[in-house]
Amino acid sequence: MAERISRALLPDNTSIADDGMAMFGGVRADDLARKFGTPLFVYDEEHIRRRCREAVKAFPDGVSYASKAFLCKAIAKLVSEEGMGLDVATIGEAYVALQSGVPPADLTLHGNNKSLEELRYASENKIGKVVIDSFDEMKRIEHLYSETHEPLKALIRVTPGVEAHTHKFVTTGEVDSKFGFTVQNSQASEAIEWAKSSKSIDLVGLHAHIGSQIFTSDSFRKSTEILVGLAENFGLPELCVGGGLGVPYLNNESSISISEWGSIVHEISKSASLKLEITAEPGRSIVATSAVTIYTVGTIKEIEGIRTYVAVDGGMHDNPRPALYGSDYETFLARSIDEPRESKITLVGKHCESGDVLVQQGDIQGDLNVGDLLVTPVTGAYGHSMGSNYNKVLRPAVVFVRGGESRLVVRREELSDLLNSDVT
Ligand SMILES: Cc1ncc(COP(=O)(O)O)c(C=O)c1O
Repeated sequence: MAERISRALLPDNTSIADDGMAMFGGVRADDLARKFGTPLFVYDEEHIRRRCREAVKAFPDGVSYASKAFLCKAIAKLVSEEGMGLDVATIGEAYVALQSGVPPADLTLHGNNKSLEELRYASENKIGKVVIDSFDEMKRIEHLYSETHEPLKALIRVTPGVEAHTHKFVTTGEVDSKFGFTVQNSQASEAIEWAKSSKSIDLVGLHAHIGSQIFTSDSFRKSTEILVGLAENFGLPELCVGGGLGVPYLNNESSISISEWGSIVHEISKSASLKLEITAEPGRSIVATSAVTIYTVGTIKEIEGIRTYVAVDGGMHDNPRPALYGSDYETFLARSIDEPRESKITLVGKHCESGDVLVQQGDIQGDLNVGDLLVTPVTGAYGHSMGSNYNKVLRPAVVFVRGGESRLVVRREELSDLLNSDVT
């Protein structure tokens, strides 16, 4: 059956103009394309703010935005204004957050292989917390302490051995994981003892992140139960449950909300014998659905009886998730957003790569032409941030829309940007 695009996959402030054109945050898609060019990431600012407020309410002890989902100065400033901290996984992410004016105390530094230089950066810049991931990192923290005599405030990342029911590349909580200290073989207990006894570490709690794009509440329940048990054993007050809440990408998918996730985690932690501070660090569930990508159709190739390839001006450089994880997306035409989509297409990019597929099986309104604006929704997380310059393609621009206004927050790259780091 030819379905319309589900409203649940679109930014909250999506509407339809009288002529059928999609409008985001009160701005017509064709006007955005004319003004900023395509491919274009369009973020609904009010949508993001609403998700931030929901997260702050669901985790009143503190919640950080996982900046790896999408980071630029504008988003860092926005989430900070809404009362969230920022989880940064590298000093690069920390740098961008700090440049946007986020207070260093609101940052939490992650990473399974933090160098001495990165730890020193955290110490010098007074970053709020570090999440310790390995015994080697603890040795480096001790070395740093011998220079600074300043302990680092820290959480210990544990790997609870919980199956997250998601793509293998985004599971992180199983025993067989490069991240954190394994609970099952007592590594976690050893690490906690070490950190508690070290002058170089001010240990305030535990952290676990079991994976990304998780739809089932069971995995969150199990992981929280394990964390609560450990926190009780060691008398540690803070328990960060990480991120990982899934979002629907396709018409037939659904997920629990940030509020429901918060309730599940708090319900379990209430059974603990000590008062715990429950914190979290969602990324995808804050920004994924807030954005769409607008492309221009350049080539249509029909192979009778096999498939129709539709090539747009973007590709795996603006969204590598399909090539990396086999992720699926929906497609629709900007000029007839509310019409049923009766044709099947395979949406591809412009790279010299057969794997440069954006949507393997997309539905589209039947009267597709070269020059049309084609939209993929739910591209706000792990699209722009995971993008690249492969084939020396220029990275797209990012705009925020709100109340009928658009503002450019990341400009489109220019050819000269491609030579920024060349030295000869
Ligand atoms: C440690 C950590 N926290 C939080 C997140 C955010 O996850 P999500 O975007 O799925 O909410 C990630 C993502 O990989 C992560 O590695």
